[in-house]
Amino acid sequence: MRKHRLRLVVAVAAVLVAAGAGTASPAQAHDTQSTLADLAERHGRYFGSATDNPELTDTAYTAVLGSEFDMITPGNGMKWYASEPEPGVFDWSAGDEIADLARRDHQRLRAHTLVWHNQLPGWLTDREWTADELRAVLKRHILTEVRHYRGKVYSWDVVNEAFNEDGTYRETLWYKTLGPGYIADALRWAHQADPHAKLYLNDYNIEAVGPKSDAYYRLAQDLRAQGVPLHGIGLQAHLALQYGYPATLEDNLRRFSRLGLDTALTEVDVRMPLPADAEKLAEQADWYRDLTAACLAVRRCVGITVWDWTDKYSWIPAFFPGEGAALPWDEEFRPKPAYAAIRQAFGER
Ligand code: XIL
Repeated sequence: MRKHRLRLVVAVAAVLVAAGAGTASPAQAHDTQSTLADLAERHGRYFGSATDNPELTDTAYTAVLGSEFDMITPGNGMKWYASEPEPGVFDWSAGDEIADLARRDHQRLRAHTLVWHNQLPGWLTDREWTADELRAVLKRHILTEVRHYRGKVYSWDVVNEAFNEDGTYRETLWYKTLGPGYIADALRWAHQADPHAKLYLNDYNIEAVGPKSDAYYRLAQDLRAQGVPLHGIGLQAHLALQYGYPATLEDNLRRFSRLGLDTALTEVDVRMPLPADAEKLAEQADWYRDLTAACLAVRRCVGITVWDWTDKYSWIPAFFPGEGAALPWDEEFRPKPAYAAIRQAFGER
């Protein structure tokens, strides 16, 4: 699309200026290059990136974010600690900044996340709740936040990371106090507050067929049978070279499609033990190519989101010490082999 291409030229110019490259004309080098969003769109998919509020002051960064992608996700700004820091007191500043950016750049928004066990405010975790009290708190949170963003959101990650690796329910505050019914309740309240948003369950280590993805498969079957508004399953896809590629990804996506659900790769990164070298980056590129191809092979896999696009702002080094280099662009915003591999998977010659 012309719109994307124009924005890409501007973005590339900004990066080159930031990198101090004065000689080559960015237009010469790139004016025929389509963006990942353009390529995905040709296949009826989107290509998105997470982003986070602190990095939005980096204009070379926002130039690429605004041009290369047609979907964005707040990495933190819509989580409970940010949106309801005190009971009944809502703070939309971080989430709104990202929703406004999406609107400015003509992007859609994957909103993330309403019910999770991490990044909760202290007022919620530092005391005991009865089931009735906690249900009322959860209902108010979901109705208020989803209403606030109504009309601006393509999809909501309603419940995040509900299962353990062995497929049993994770013993979160929600599960322990409310039982497994909190998931259906959360979906119903979210649907009530924004009937047009697609509602997802989202988790990591569910890319392959196995006990954890089986748990989602069974839950999704149950919820659909009960008429609960569930529209998609988000496979985070925080992958790591040392654990091997999830070879059953495509089969797994397909079985969820057959339940009548959308699927999406929602938080993709492919980390590696540091330092990165040519061999590891080549293997990483293969993985990005393969996961893109897997999504394209399954009709209801609607799109791919990377968990930010540049290693400069990746969460990996802080959370997995000694690992990193997980994203398609390096810390200097130079495309890595993974970037070309994704383009190749989209059939670009
Ligand atoms: C991460 C953010 O990227 C970090 O900035 C934050 O400190 C911790 O959370 N699964 C999820 C995301 O669903 O919300 C997490 O995001 C990464 C793992």
